Amino acid sequence: MQDSPQAGVRKSMDVLIIGSGAAGLSLALHLAAEQRVAVLSKGPVSEGSTYYAQGGVSAVLDRHDSLEAHVRDTLDAGGGLCDEAAVRHTVEHGPESIQWLLDLGVPFTREEPGDDGRVQLHLTREGGHSHRRVVHAADATGKAIENTLVEQVRRHPNIELFEHHIAVDLLTSHKLGLAGSRRCLGAYVLNLKSHQVEIFAAPFVVLASGGASKVYLYSSNPDGSTGDGIAMAWRAGCRVANMEFMQFHPTCLFHPKAKSFLISEAVRGEGGRLLLPDGTPFMERFDPRGELAPRDIVARAIDHEMKRLGADCVYLDISHKPADFIKSHFPNIHERCLEYGFDMTRDPLPVVPAAHYTCGGVMTDLAARTDLDGLYAIGEVACTGLHGANRMASNSLLECLVFARSAAQDMGRQRPEPVPVDRIPAWDESRVTDSDEEVVVAHNWEELRRFMWDYVGIVRTSKRLQRAQRRIELLQGEIHDYYSNFRVTNDLIELRNLALVAEIIIRSAQSRKESRGLHYTLDYPRTDPALAGRPTVLTPSGSPA
Ligand code: FAD
Ligand code: SIN
Repeated sequence: MQDSPQAGVRKSMDVLIIGSGAAGLSLALHLAAEQRVAVLSKGPVSEGSTYYAQGGVSAVLDRHDSLEAHVRDTLDAGGGLCDEAAVRHTVEHGPESIQWLLDLGVPFTREEPGDDGRVQLHLTREGGHSHRRVVHAADATGKAIENTLVEQVRRHPNIELFEHHIAVDLLTSHKLGLAGSRRCLGAYVLNLKSHQVEIFAAPFVVLASGGASKVYLYSSNPDGSTGDGIAMAWRAGCRVANMEFMQFHPTCLFHPKAKSFLISEAVRGEGGRLLLPDGTPFMERFDPRGELAPRDIVARAIDHEMKRLGADCVYLDISHKPADFIKSHFPNIHERCLEYGFDMTRDPLPVVPAAHYTCGGVMTDLAARTDLDGLYAIGEVACTGLHGANRMASNSLLECLVFARSAAQDMGRQRPEPVPVDRIPAWDESRVTDSDEEVVVAHNWEELRRFMWDYVGIVRTSKRLQRAQRRIELLQGEIHDYYSNFRVTNDLIELRNLALVAEIIIRSAQSRKESRGLHYTLDYPRTDPALAGRPTVLTPSGSPA
């Protein structure tokens, strides 16, 4: 990393990666032999969704399974909106991605050795998958992957990790008034320890900043899932696609203190049944695949039954399996549930759906390139076309790994122009003061997430979307004033981004006049065959994209 003697802190590197989850850290490791890489995380390095992933990573590793079956299942779950080329690209690179993780030392769960003494990875099953194909480390797969990647990254002399650094906005040639084609030159970054906004300049910038599920009141995600990368890319002029397809995980623990703790889909994969409060199973009424139907169907069925019965939750029961089986397959979930007073080896667990995954995002091609030269997007922030209208379980971590490699290969083929770092103006704080009313940020944050939950949730209507639109316009105005007058803070940056992402979700939902995958509206309850293969693409005004 090089520091420049200009006013304020200015750093130059070959590649700036915004995000330190599976996507960002994998990319850093692929690049580090040839490039000097900076990786930002806005909190501690592991505080992204990756660390909390439970079920696993999907890949075709069983001889009875096939790439074609994985492709078919993904297309089927995606409700006619997947880009088949992106699906094939991801699925075909699945097995080598798992091998890469094994080579790094990720401790995936293995089968008991067979009669021939061969040890194989244990594969579990999740919704939408026609075969067992989910590689996992018991029920804490994300932690095993993230810990291994962090360990490797910390050891590498070419990778510098900047924790507690939050990117505020991208630096682009057009916004800075520089001649030549539009390209990304780096980012303004708030150092949360020094409270200074610094310049990170790089000819390649990668958004690996995760999803936006915190736009909803109830979410399985950690607090940082605020859609920062989507908002930054939009402000920089990039197209964003399929944002109406926000995925709700069907089974999060229903307990006031559990913060929507996830009960992995693998629990259903290993035989867990969904029950009404009186103990009646109900999933077969909604789909012949029962508990293992794709997530949109299961979440909607639960929502329907809860509303029909006026129930606070439904129940997930795996207590018919031997206690040892449950404890060895789900040690983390078992422990956490005990902390909240539920013993899953004996009793059904109370569960409700919660916002879980952002299927849409910044549009990219198969090399993870966005509309802006020098800017890439990988992982949950991106819309590669893999997920379509509904992501299939465990395809997300796979996408992070595959597209991290694709982006690295693409960068390796290019010779970018150097960034004129000395011509980038320092962050201007001459017209702002410290806020005297932090409560405004907290209040707006709460209001936003509540109306998104109430009006733009699992079941939508045109009227609810219109209500949400009116409220977001008001909030946007207040947030804009606040942002113009006060010094930036972590909370303000996140709120500004969440509000923009909420607006994009509402607009995308309003523009889709049908129900498909995760987007279900009572006003257009049918799927319109004419809209198959037609993603929702929004273009920022003033962008040439
Ligand atoms: P994350 O891992 O979310 O990392 C985002 C990074 O970006 C963080 O380091 C954060 O600090 C940083 N960041 C964000 N904004 C900024 C900013 N402005 N400036 C600087 N840094 C920033 N998927 C599966 O495939 N299988 C599973 O079993 C599975 N289980 C899941 C369980 C849970 C509870 C959750 C929440 C998700 C699960 N998912 C699963 C989804 C999957 O974990 C995520 O989609 C995936 O980990 C996203 O990885 P990522 O690298 O894109 O982002
Ligand atoms: C889970 O374990 O249920 C989460 C899997 C996923 O989100 O892919």
